[in-house]
Amino acid sequence: MKLNIALLAGDGIGPEVIDQAVKVSNAIAKKYNHEINWTPALTGAAAIDAVGEPYPDETHEVCKAADAVLFGAIGHPRFDNDPSAKVRPEQGLLKMRQKLGLFANVRPTFTFPSLIDKSPLKRERIEGTDLVILRELTGGVYFGERGRKDDGNTAFDTMTYTRHEIQRLAKKGFELAMTRSKKLCCVDKANVLESSRLWRETVQAMEKDYPEVEVSYEFVDAVAMRLVQWPSSYDVIITENLFGDILTDEASVISGSMGLMPSASVGEEASLYEPIHGSYPQAAGKDIANPLATVLSAAIMFEDFGLTEEAQEIRNVVNKSLAEGIVTEDLAEGGKAYKTSEVGDWLASNI
Ligand code: IPM
Ligand code: MG
Repeated sequence: MKLNIALLAGDGIGPEVIDQAVKVSNAIAKKYNHEINWTPALTGAAAIDAVGEPYPDETHEVCKAADAVLFGAIGHPRFDNDPSAKVRPEQGLLKMRQKLGLFANVRPTFTFPSLIDKSPLKRERIEGTDLVILRELTGGVYFGERGRKDDGNTAFDTMTYTRHEIQRLAKKGFELAMTRSKKLCCVDKANVLESSRLWRETVQAMEKDYPEVEVSYEFVDAVAMRLVQWPSSYDVIITENLFGDILTDEASVISGSMGLMPSASVGEEASLYEPIHGSYPQAAGKDIANPLATVLSAAIMFEDFGLTEEAQEIRNVVNKSLAEGIVTEDLAEGGKAYKTSEVGDWLASNI
C-alpha cells in the first residue's frame, strides 16, 4: 500500500516522540512492502514562531491532501501564564479539529500485563480494563459562543449541541460497541444541563436501531468516581467534548503512565492519530519522554487502513519492550531508564 502521511510534530516532546513513531512505521513499511511518504508541516507554538499562526493554511492543505495525519503535541508554557496572549498554540489544535471535521475522538484505555502493578490503582480494581471513550471533538463548550460582558467582570462560555452532532458521534459509539462487548454508556449531566437532555433523548431514540447493544445512561460526576473504582465495568463510553477531555485524562492513569495511551480523531474525510499526553515541556529536548503512546497511535493508523497484521505487530513489539524493561524513565522505577530514541531504535530493530 502507498500511504501519504502528514507529519505534524508540534511542540515540546512532540518532535522526539514523532521521530520514534516514524522509525517504527518505516520498519513496518519495509517488512510488509508498503511505501510511506511523510510530509512534515508546522503547527502549534513552532508555527506561531515561524509564520505567526498555530495552524497555517499551508499545513491545512498538507493535511487535506494526506491519507492521514500523525500528530505529536501542541502547547508551550510561555503562553500558559499569559491570559492576554492573542494567539495560542492550542487554538491551532482546535482549528485543525474543526477544519478537518474530526468530530470523534477515540481514546482507548487498557492495561499492560507487565505494568499492572505500576498503576496507582490496585491490581484487583484495574485488571481486565479494556474500554474506549469516544469523545465528541468539534462541538460543545470548546466551540460555543464565549466572551466577556461589558463590565469586563463577567465571562461566559456556552455549551451548544445539535441533534445531528450527537447522532453522528453516537452512531460511531453504537457501531464500535457492536464490534466489542455490545455495551454503551452515555455520559452526561442530564439532571442539570439542557444540552445533556438532548444527548439523552437523541441516544435513546437510536437504541431501537441497535437492539443488541445494552445502553446505560450515567452522570459525569458518578462516572468520574466509578472509572477509578471499577473501570472494567465499562466498554464503550460516549460523551461530549469537555466531559471527554476530563475523563480521558483520568482514565489514562489506569494504565500506569500517561505516556502509553494513544488516540485517533476521525471525521467523514480525514483522520488524525496522536498520543493523549500533550507537549510535556519540562522534558522537551531531553530525549526522556515515553514514545509508546505515539507509536501505539501509529498502530491505530495502520489498523484504520485495514492493515491489522501490521498494527498487531506494533502492539506485540511494544509489549515485548515493556516485558523486557526497554522503557523510558517514567516506567523504569529504579531500573535502567532508556532514552526516547533508544526505545524507538529497539522497537524498529525488533520488527
Ligand atoms: C486534549 C487536550 C486539548 C483539549 C487541549 C490541548 C486544547 O487537553 O487533546 O485532550 O482540551 O482538547
Ligand atoms: Mg485533554
